This record gives sequence, structure tokens and C-alpha cells, in this order.
Amino acid sequence: MLRENVVYCGDCKSVLAGFPEKSVDLIYADPPFFSNRHYEVVWGDGYELRAFEDRWKGGIENYTAWMEDRIRECHRVLKETGSFYLHCDFHANAHLRISLDRVFGKGNFRNEIIWCYTGPSNTKRYFPRKTDTIFFYVKNRDANYFFDVEKIRVPYKKLETGKTSGIFKGEATLSEKGKIPENWWEEKRDGMSPVGRLKRERLGYPTQKPEALLERIIKASSNEGDLVLDPFCGCGTSIAVAHRLGRRWVGIDVSPTACKVMVRRMRRSLGVSVGESEIIGLPRTVEELKTMKPFEFQNWVCEQLNGQVSSKKSGDFGIDGWLIDGRPLQVKQSENVGRNVVDNFETALRRAGRNRGVVVAFSFGKGANEETARARLQDGLEIELKTVEEILRGENYSPEVA
Ligand SMILES: C[S@@+](CC[C@H](N)C(=O)[O-])C[C@H]1O[C@@H](n2cnc3c(N)ncnc32)[C@H](O)[C@@H]1O
Repeated sequence: MLRENVVYCGDCKSVLAGFPEKSVDLIYADPPFFSNRHYEVVWGDGYELRAFEDRWKGGIENYTAWMEDRIRECHRVLKETGSFYLHCDFHANAHLRISLDRVFGKGNFRNEIIWCYTGPSNTKRYFPRKTDTIFFYVKNRDANYFFDVEKIRVPYKKLETGKTSGIFKGEATLSEKGKIPENWWEEKRDGMSPVGRLKRERLGYPTQKPEALLERIIKASSNEGDLVLDPFCGCGTSIAVAHRLGRRWVGIDVSPTACKVMVRRMRRSLGVSVGESEIIGLPRTVEELKTMKPFEFQNWVCEQLNGQVSSKKSGDFGIDGWLIDGRPLQVKQSENVGRNVVDNFETALRRAGRNRGVVVAFSFGKGANEETARARLQDGLEIELKTVEEILRGENYSPEVA
């Protein structure tokens, strides 16, 4: 089943498998690149530690096979008149192009769009890498696919001679309408600076794309009322632009953190009434929470307890977050947490000058309970041991100001 104007939390391969074939007009996909980097950022609000993992064990072949599975699902759900844009960069573009040809057919290739920009670089042994590649394919080039150049014209450039560049004789009227942009898009001409420099748009998501770039794609390849899908939606740039332009939309991301940011973005900037309860597929059971990535789990616990994730990169000396009442929080994504964890947490509390704190885990062993009792009686330290099940049952700490 496919629900529109909602965010799906999950691997897009399995989410898309549940969508009917030929149901989507436009897909923009901006998957994790093969960059072998681990992004860790402090988000716009300055507190929450978010991470975005982009690391591929097993090399480029693994990555390409992984991507091809997902490209196939995208191809299946695309209408006969639909279009597909895949955003990537030098890490994997050669490999992805071959996958795309295989899935879509060489003849349905339309463009290799190059987005070029400037930015700081400290390379001295090669030219700074300041381009991304966006491959544009259609499902069927003979099916009268939608492409509206009238919506995306840009002004002609005035030459120093006073003449206008690029206009053929007899086409003077075109100069008023502007020209169809080439397959290279550039930050100055096209207003597509990397988001790091766009204060107004910046949400702190490490790979956020500029709205102007999505605007061009969505205007060119979809009509009002069409359905736009983003299977790797990140902080929701494509769905926000799609909504603003009167398209229907569906966003998918495997990260619960990203899904929540998307919903917040839609609500705050566009007044769209999607609630967090409308994120389909958010983890809701102990088993699901056990398989979450560690930073996602940490974010989840902090959100449930109305706390904030510690802003320091590697945790605040054993403190993973802070509750609203100032109590430090430690999060363990494990069962049967023992005495040594409580011991270490006591040290962290002392270092932070606190005498109260909370440890969250799936379960605690006898040693952990004995140590908290000892710490209370002998050292005056108040350590609460809270299980994930208690949090799921809603037995959360109700904040009192310390
Ligand atoms: C490059 S970012 C997308 C950024 C987005 N275009 C924006 O403007 O914010 C890639 C996203 O893909 C998500 N992702 C990674 N693997 C995924 C999967 N299997 N299914 C769905 N999303 C996935 C990551 O969580 C990340 O948010």
C-alpha cells in the first residue's frame, strides 16, 4: 500500500516493495555516497548529536549491488511516463551509471547533469573536487514522458558587446523567455550554493541539498498534482519543495532521526499537518530498538525522556545526554548491564559535579542494582536504572527542576 504525503521510516528497498507498480511520477534519489566517511554533526539546534553513516564494508561492488537492488524497486514503482534522477559524485558515479543503464536501458538515459560549486579545499596534489553528478533517466522515452522546459528557463547572459549570448538569428523573442539551462548547473547562475552557505535553508543535516536544485528537477519533470518520491529523503528537501510546488509526495529514510527532522521541517516551514505518529515504520518494540544503530538508539532514548544528546563528539566523558532537570544520562544498548557500568557512571557524575543521574539499558544485572544501592547509602549518589521497556510503557521521568 502507498500512502501519500507521509514519511516512511525504513530501508527503501523493503518500503518500496510494498508500493504498487507504476504509481509514481518522479523519483529523486540522493543515496549515501561511497565516501567511506562517517559524518557526525551537531544539528542546527546545537544539542542533538546526529550521525549519518556512509561506510561500505566490502568495497564498491557491494555498494553498487546494494544500490542496484534499490534502483530496480524505483524503476518498478515509476509510471511509464515517469522520470528518475540519481544524485551522486565521483566516488561511485561511473559504477552507478552502468547500473542505471542495466535497469532503465541505455536508450532511456537523458542527461548527466553536473552541479558545480566552489568551497574551501586543502588539496595540493589534485584539483579540488567541487562537482556532483545527477543522472536523469526516464522509464520509457517513447511514452511521452513529462518534461516542461517552460518552467525552468533562465535569463540569457548579456555579453560585453551588449549582445545576448547563445541566441540564434531569428530567435530574438526567446531572449525574453530566457533559455533552457544546459546540463551543467552552477551555484551563481542557478542560485544553487551548497547548503552550508545558505543560512536560510541550513538545518545542519550533513548532506542536505539546496532547494533551488530540487525546484528545477521537480518543475521540469512533474506537473502540479503529480506524485514525487524520495527514497533517501534525509532532512526532506525534496518533499518540502514538492509540497510547496503543489505536488503530492512520499519520503522514505532508514533513519528515525531523519524522519523526525523531516516531519518537523514540513510542519514548521510549510504548516503541513503531519504528526510524528504519521511516520510509518518508526521503531516501537524492544526487538526493533535492539537492532537500531547506536547513535539512533541514543537519540531515541533522549527524545523519549525529553532530554538532549550530549553535544560533544565522543560523549561527555561517559555522559551521553542530559535530562531537562540537569541529570546526566547514560545509554547502553545492551542487556544485563552490570556493576562496572554503574561504577564508571559514578566517576562521570563526580567529574561533572552531579550527585544524580540515570542509566538506560534493556535490562540490569544484580551487580548494577547492588552498586546503585551502595552508592546511595555510602556516597550519597542517586542513580536511577531505567529499562527500555519502562520507557516504551510510557513510565518516563516527569521532569522536576532540580
Ligand atoms: C545523502 S542523504 C540525503 C540528503 C537529502 N537529499 C537532503 O537534502 O537532506 C542520504 C540519506 O539516505 C538515508 N539512507 C541510507 N540508507 C537508506 C536506505 N536503505 N533506505 C532509505 N534511506 C536510507 C540516510 O539515512 C540519509 O538520510
